[in-house]
Amino acid sequence: MVERNYAKPGEVMYHTGLTKELLEGARYALVPGDPGRVEGLAKALDPQARFLAYHREFHSWLARVQGAPVLVMSTGMGGPCITFTVEELARLGVTTFLRVGTTGSLREDLDLGDVVISKAAVRLDGASKAYAPIEYPAVPDLDVTLALRQAAEELAVPYKLGVTVTTDSFWPGQERYDSFGGYVVRRLQGSLREWQALGCSNYEMEAATLFTLTSVLGLRAGAICGVVAKRTDSESVAPRGIYELAERRFQQVSRRAVELLLAQDSR
Ligand code: URA
Repeated sequence: MVERNYAKPGEVMYHTGLTKELLEGARYALVPGDPGRVEGLAKALDPQARFLAYHREFHSWLARVQGAPVLVMSTGMGGPCITFTVEELARLGVTTFLRVGTTGSLREDLDLGDVVISKAAVRLDGASKAYAPIEYPAVPDLDVTLALRQAAEELAVPYKLGVTVTTDSFWPGQERYDSFGGYVVRRLQGSLREWQALGCSNYEMEAATLFTLTSVLGLRAGAICGVVAKRTDSESVAPRGIYELAERRFQQVSRRAVELLLAQDSR
């Protein structure tokens, strides 16, 4: 068994600016990509949530759910940012990561504002290859995923469980032609259609990296994303109102999932 490199008392994590003391023993972290979503998410968990730190793309607040400390920290976008998140938060004692974010749907029956709970992810990212060979599967933790599903059911939030395609590029990687250059390399032309034919549900940019790292390191993760682009109809992202609906839904579902997991973990 490899010795784990936990943080020493008072040690400040270089990228996130956090310490063990600031986390007050938090073992759960909700990790949206966007720093602008952190405060709202933290306050949806706990109206008394408080600001902790803001370093680079890592904006952190601490909430309490049923008395248990829960960190809410943005990751920024893409796989490399996830490696900083998992590496530094694991050193501070976080064991369970919930990605909450936005996504583009690949299925006709996933509408704008619906949520996708990932049951696996395709590793089109680059960062996870530093942690495990590409044959290693990117899968979330089963208990975390079931808690997300139960929460969505209880709250009657429209959701699908699906295989997520995680890319390193929002434009050619997700076969978008509305980029500055307008070109998609030949290798990726037709890729959207192929992921649909393979039954995949959605595109986003962080889940596979998070799942690979947490599996390899003996940690837990799950992911829930609100649909803000319906790729069966268009390349565009939806207007603000849809973001707000998606955000409200993933806030509600992630809060209830944390409650369910806390109850399970205390048994
Ligand atoms: N996030 C993505 O990565 N793709 C989308 O289409 C929407 C959100």
